[in-house]
Amino acid sequence: MSDPQKIAVIGAGLMGHGIAYLLARAGHSVSVFDTSEEARASLGERISDIAQLLGDDKKLLDRVQVVDDLAIAVAGAAFVIEAATENVPLKQKIFADLETLVGPDCILASNTSSIPLRDIGQNMTDTKRLVGAHFWNPPHLVPLVEVSQLAEENLAAVEKVIALLAGAGRHPVHVKRDIPGFIGNRLQHAIKREAIALVASGICDAETIDDVVKFGFGKRMAVLGPMEQSDLVGLDLTRAIHEVLLDDLDTAQGPHPFLIHLIEAGKTGMDAGEGFRKWTPDEAAEVRARLRNFLAAEAKSN
Ligand SMILES: NC(=O)c1ccc[n+]([C@@H]2O[C@H](COP(=O)([O-])OP(=O)(O)OC[C@H]3O[C@@H](n4cnc5c(N)ncnc54)[C@H](O)[C@@H]3O)[C@@H](O)[C@H]2O)c1
Repeated sequence: MSDPQKIAVIGAGLMGHGIAYLLARAGHSVSVFDTSEEARASLGERISDIAQLLGDDKKLLDRVQVVDDLAIAVAGAAFVIEAATENVPLKQKIFADLETLVGPDCILASNTSSIPLRDIGQNMTDTKRLVGAHFWNPPHLVPLVEVSQLAEENLAAVEKVIALLAGAGRHPVHVKRDIPGFIGNRLQHAIKREAIALVASGICDAETIDDVVKFGFGKRMAVLGPMEQSDLVGLDLTRAIHEVLLDDLDTAQGPHPFLIHLIEAGKTGMDAGEGFRKWTPDEAAEVRARLRNFLAAEAKSN
């Protein structure tokens, strides 16, 4: 665990409340700012729910302060982690404002999923303390954080964020360039591109895709990454498979027409009752509970 710091979290939504929780749990003093009164008012209860889920002492809430003024939230902070709505002008304004409000050594991190750091920092006068810190949902249960580096001069800030997150029990990794999707979403969506193409061409249905992952290579993926797995079986085998397979994989650029067709037909996923698969409200609730319980059990066992 690292020395207690003052940390500000900007945005108290789905991601912000979990980030505030895990930092407070690690002993830091966390002030949270959100423009929404509703988000501010419900933050304590939502953090308390996480403590309940993980069997943690609710006293950690004493280290979380909710404020309705950005300047007060970030005053004296060593780190600011922004988790506000995914919108380019909004984030540009937040970071330009932050730069004028924090001390010279304060590190400014964004949890953006997709906006390049160079765009977020467009209105800043000096971006060397700007870092990407891409948490995964829910951030208090999924340990990975992709810490991305804008330019060479940002390395010191990246290293500080990595140390902070490691001290808070996360598993930070260093993404050495500011690229779309970082690492995790590039890998995840490479799988989705092929999965959608297989279903669209009638090779299998969507349930079969999920079964192949959940009952096949997904079983070992939590303990064996793809590079380890290649080394385990030998690189010759990977090369032999690539010689046969790679030319046959989908290489569509842009969203697949089948995906667009489903969305235009109103089949947008569980909340609509149908996406790639059909869902009753009970089935959708069961999937959500299954995921939450699995991740919580994993988090408690670590
Ligand atoms: N949801 C995910 O799975 C996920 C995963 C990784 C990263 N992210 C990223 O995290 C960020 C937040 O996403 P979320 O899912 O928590 O969204 P959310 O809508 O749940 O929360 C966003 C919060 O930001 C607040 N907000 C809006 N403008 C603000 C401002 N100027 N100052 C302070 N707060 C403001 C909103 O009131 C809201 O409470 C986004 O950049 C998103 O891309 C999301």
